Amino acid sequence: MAYFIWANDMAIDHGPIDQDHKMLVEQVNQLHTATEAGRGQQVVGQLLGELIRSTVEHIRREEQVMRQLGYPRLKQHQASHVDFVNDLHALQQKFAAGNITVAAQLSTLLRDWLSLHIRRYDRDILTFMQEKRRTKTAA
Ligand SMILES: [Fe+2]
Ligand SMILES: [Fe+2]
Repeated sequence: MAYFIWANDMAIDHGPIDQDHKMLVEQVNQLHTATEAGRGQQVVGQLLGELIRSTVEHIRREEQVMRQLGYPRLKQHQASHVDFVNDLHALQQKFAAGNITVAAQLSTLLRDWLSLHIRRYDRDILTFMQEKRRTKTAA
């Protein structure tokens, strides 16, 4: 069974941002399936590398969207991105050092990130876009 299920209240742009988020959901589910089958430790090293690459790429895209929109809370949002990437790198180092709980820690980190960051920070981009649209229509 999937560990993390995409929910409608996570939708932002029905476009590239949602696609990236859905890919992250898929990756966390892959890790969970492997962990349940006792292969978590085997796949976590490769998955971490892929995750870091796709996350950095996603963040770049998302921050570009925010800049284009003139989104006013970019700094705080960026700080949350930096924290997450740092956490991923810290887990990669732990994995390289032979820590055997990295798969479980990564699952928790990703679940929290997807659930909390998207709902708290990424959704705020949508709120801002909607406000902007409203002001434009009103003008
Ligand atoms: Fe995001
Ligand atoms: Fe974000």
